[in-house]
Amino acid sequence: MSYNIALNFEDGITRFIRCNEGETVLDAAYRNQINLPMDCSDGVCGTCKGSCHQGKFDLGDEYIDEALTDDEAEQGMILTCQMVPASDCVVEIPVASTMCKTGIARVQGTVLEVNLVSPTAIELKVAAEDDIAFLPGQYVNIQVPGTEETRAYSFSSRPGSRELSFLIRNVPGGLMSSYLVGQCKAGDSLTLTGPMGSFYLRPVERPVLMLAGGTGLAPFLAMLEHLKVNGTGQPTHLIYGVTNDDDLVCIEALEQFAAGIENFSFKTVVASADSAHPLKGYVTNHMQDAPIHHGEVDVYLCGPPPMVDAVLGYFRDQGIKPNSFHYEKFSPSVSAVAGAVA
Ligand SMILES: Cc1cc2nc3c(=O)[nH]c(=O)nc-3n(C[C@H](O)[C@H](O)[C@H](O)COP(=O)(O)OP(=O)(O)OC[C@H]3O[C@@H](n4cnc5c(N)ncnc54)[C@H](O)[C@@H]3O)c2cc1C
Ligand code: FES
Repeated sequence: MSYNIALNFEDGITRFIRCNEGETVLDAAYRNQINLPMDCSDGVCGTCKGSCHQGKFDLGDEYIDEALTDDEAEQGMILTCQMVPASDCVVEIPVASTMCKTGIARVQGTVLEVNLVSPTAIELKVAAEDDIAFLPGQYVNIQVPGTEETRAYSFSSRPGSRELSFLIRNVPGGLMSSYLVGQCKAGDSLTLTGPMGSFYLRPVERPVLMLAGGTGLAPFLAMLEHLKVNGTGQPTHLIYGVTNDDDLVCIEALEQFAAGIENFSFKTVVASADSAHPLKGYVTNHMQDAPIHHGEVDVYLCGPPPMVDAVLGYFRDQGIKPNSFHYEKFSPSVSAVAGAVA
């Protein structure tokens, strides 16, 4: 028996390792050529401290209080030299990946399909040559063929498959957009680096509210694929907002999720005054019946920066403090702007 351990480094890079039954995370990482911070490896110095909020594990009982206090353990902190996983886990490592003599993984892929699914959105399907493990909601950087430039794209496909899909906004004149619309064809080779990002689905322990703007729907499709397999015992509601009627995409997929995932529901909202859509305005205009439960909710928000800022401002102005708030801005640059509001 072995477990899949995601090591999330401070610089946003995630590396996945297999950890054998009874093996510590530190030893498993070392076996996978990743040198996590350590000094004593005996639970004495505290150098290997990290945190784990996802998965089951044995904290160990041979460490001393100076290395890890009871309070820290209660808050989810761990010592990688002591922690023995008992399931798949996500472990936060509070240093950059480069400090651990590891870095970003590079995978080659072949374009399977590229489709203009609306005037403003492109669906890209890619077959990866190697396994590319990721957490639902994370993204990769894709190199624009013929250039040194990369662009960040969230996976819209389910983790665990080599068949990857992406939902990409068609930005007129944009470098990647122009390649995808004008030149890209089945068989083209692409270089992907990642996975990256701290915007991923946490264990579903209370109601979940998902707020998507435009192609910001992409990471939610991956999260819903995950929930389709793993289920959700909690009300999970998605509000998906776009500018114009024909920007609405993947509605059939969302209907299938609503039919296949117990407790999942969604609604769509169109901002344009000319729209014939029944729900007009912004996602924040349609949250009356969302499962906010006096803050007992985990909120996930993704879309273009102005939309994300507007929703963050709305929550602030209304004095709504969700249990957790995770967001990702689809910034035009390659640098990710992800965050969490406690
Ligand atoms: C973490 C992360 C994840 C992302 N995931 C996705 C995703 O799943 N799907 C997706 O569609 N995008 C995503 N993006 C945005 C994506 O990386 C690119 O920025 C976008 O696709 C534009 O690339 P381009 O090469 O076509 O245009 P560029 O050549 O980069 O831009 C051309 C011009 O258009 C402007 N521009 C770029 N994007 C926009 C925009 N959205 N609205 C208005 N003007 C713009 C630029 O400032 C520039 O002036 C993500 C960004 C980040 C940081
Ligand atoms: S390396 Fe010293 S406590 Fe883990």
